[in-house]
Amino acid sequence: MNSNSEAIAQWNLAIQSNYGSPTIALSNGQGVEVWDVEGKRYLDFLGGIATNILGHAHPELVEAISQQAKTLNHVSNFYAHPQVLKLALKLQDLTGDSTARVFFCNSGAEANEAAFKLSRLTGRNRIVATSGAFHGRTMGALSLTGQESKKRAFKPLLKKITHVPFGDISAAKKAITKRTAMFILEPIQGENGVVVPPVGYLAALRDHTYKTGTLLVVDAVQTGMGRTSTWFGYESEGITPDVITLAKGLGGGLPLGAMIALGSAAQLFQAGSHGTTFGGNPIACAAANKVIEIIERDGLLAEVGRKGMMIKQALSELSQVQEVRGSGLLLGVVLKSKDAKVVAAALMQEGVLANAATGEVIRLAPALNVSDQQIAQFLEIFSKVVKNG
Ligand SMILES: Cc1ncc(COP(=O)(O)O)c(C=O)c1O
Repeated sequence: MNSNSEAIAQWNLAIQSNYGSPTIALSNGQGVEVWDVEGKRYLDFLGGIATNILGHAHPELVEAISQQAKTLNHVSNFYAHPQVLKLALKLQDLTGDSTARVFFCNSGAEANEAAFKLSRLTGRNRIVATSGAFHGRTMGALSLTGQESKKRAFKPLLKKITHVPFGDISAAKKAITKRTAMFILEPIQGENGVVVPPVGYLAALRDHTYKTGTLLVVDAVQTGMGRTSTWFGYESEGITPDVITLAKGLGGGLPLGAMIALGSAAQLFQAGSHGTTFGGNPIACAAANKVIEIIERDGLLAEVGRKGMMIKQALSELSQVQEVRGSGLLLGVVLKSKDAKVVAAALMQEGVLANAATGEVIRLAPALNVSDQQIAQFLEIFSKVVKNG
């Protein structure tokens, strides 16, 4: 196959319409660069939607995956293996809490489903979530999601879930009672256009959920793995949640999710409570172990903060940009023109991949190891596109 149009025709012939049709087909990548089947080069500032945390084909990641593929591929959860143990212990260490226990799965929705089921074991069955939130597309995760457009066609969904405005602590306090099993939220709402809550919101929520005995579940699927310059995206508020969910960047592009429970929440699942065939797969875990090793070794957390500020400052100066939201390398560029789809298409024409998270927001989520030079190239193209638009 050597043309985008041929690829799209095949897509339409064999793939369901739930994603619509793509406009290009990608054939290979290296770091932050990808090429389509016609040989055109792009700077990948979407990163597989915040997933290719170290870019494409990172040589050390390739080596770790290949080695594991040669050694042991899949064992089921009847048996332990070195990669899953190493990863679980490392994630526990990153939470800073030795009571943390990990459940591995394959995606963000599954991680949130696991949190949902865990919350039922508290003996309570009410949940509070936030409007605009995105927690996944399976029926439980969709019920937690606070976007009506994604839910409407699939009702009835799960009951006893209240959505409150994101960032509004008094609304949260009103909704959370001693009967609430869990409050779930994203530290920054990614799919909703990179929406950042007021400083102190998470800490106040933590305080209130302690008082009511409600699990505080942080969905770090998009903000996690260093993307916002800390491991999970909540640390700046100095809180410890009861549950953290992860996916996307965790496997560096391989499908891997995790639901980490802390303290007494870590004791809720018993033998037989939950499971999934591929959870803790050795190859996916080998990739995650390498991802974490590289982020730590290369000091990427600090770099993410610096690079994010570089992009934020430069784009904020553009007269076409209303504001740049977000933290680290999860950024939402709010356009005055409110035509993010048009701008995303024009960026692609000019060789940059980014997406319109909402009608007015371009989301940027490049690999954490994007270079200063690549950022400079991106900034040049972005300003040209919005000036011409
Ligand atoms: C915050 C958040 N939670 C959950 C999900 C669902 O993850 P997945 O698509 O891997 O099921 C996403 C996906 O975008 C997300 O951003």
